[in-house]
Amino acid sequence: MKRIAVLTSGGDAPGMNAAIRSVVRVGIYHGLEVIGIRRGYEGLLEGDFVEMTRSSVSDILQRGGTILQTARSPEFQENGGPEKAARILQDRGIDSLIVIGGDGSFKGAKLLNDLGIPTIGVPGTIDNDLGYTDYTIGFYTAIETVMEAVGKLRDTSSSHGRMFVVEVMGRNCGDIALYAGVISGAENVIVPEVDYDMVEICRSVIQGQERGKNHHIILLSEGVTDANAFTKELSECSGYPARLAVIGHLQRGGSPTAFDRLLATQMGAKAVELLIHGKSGVAVGIRGNKLHCMEIDEAIGVRDRLNMNLYELAEILAK
Ligand code: F6P
Repeated sequence: MKRIAVLTSGGDAPGMNAAIRSVVRVGIYHGLEVIGIRRGYEGLLEGDFVEMTRSSVSDILQRGGTILQTARSPEFQENGGPEKAARILQDRGIDSLIVIGGDGSFKGAKLLNDLGIPTIGVPGTIDNDLGYTDYTIGFYTAIETVMEAVGKLRDTSSSHGRMFVVEVMGRNCGDIALYAGVISGAENVIVPEVDYDMVEICRSVIQGQERGKNHHIILLSEGVTDANAFTKELSECSGYPARLAVIGHLQRGGSPTAFDRLLATQMGAKAVELLIHGKSGVAVGIRGNKLHCMEIDEAIGVRDRLNMNLYELAEILAK
């Protein structure tokens, strides 16, 4: 193996740059040429390639986003996309590929691997919705962003005696809401994995007010329901004013935390080492503080389970 390529795909996540840097520098250390593919699978189909050097990844460890840029390419899997991509990679003399992204990106990686391009997946998404790994790159930075936002919202919540519903990302996974809720002391955490009861929520609001609480923060995961309708119903049902704050794409930006830099750096290196040892078609993950790998299709199939102990703890702490 002489030439490997790396791309980032799907929603960007803080720490993707740290992973790219690690892939490039570890690859070069082992005598490989490393090619960067711009704009994910879209760029791959257009042959948008760039030669990576040690210095091309200088000063990116601390930067959010991805220097290779990214794209969502659902159509990649249709109309012969993978076959065309495999041909392009072969024509360019690229032996193997590292894909940094979420589950959609992993599906593309699996198809390319099946077409004879040895491919490794590295989990990069703020959602933490890949059950085969304890953490995905970007998740910890995203919850830190939410924590900071909730701190600020709490100030205005207390000043006005208002409730705040804070909508956070995560698709169908409640991890951002749950973890951010615990570390920011939210009064309620509402996630797609657990049914919510509006009457119960209103009861907790009223009890809080009766105890003299002048703030109330509810973290609502985007995958649950329409946040505007939820906020209106909450206000009407509890009799207290509520405002909605949607943090949105702020959660995807910013300098990665120490944890994400470390995770991304180790995972990027591991992906290169796996290829060097002739392993492919696997996704790198972390379990109990140890890196591991799993067949990509198996990894995609592991359902992410909400940490119910943490969920129950969040409820106890907020009572
Ligand atoms: O997968 C990451 C994520 O930020 C999700 O949490 C969110 O639902 C989605 O991407 C938003 O996607 P887009 O940036 O394409 O609107």
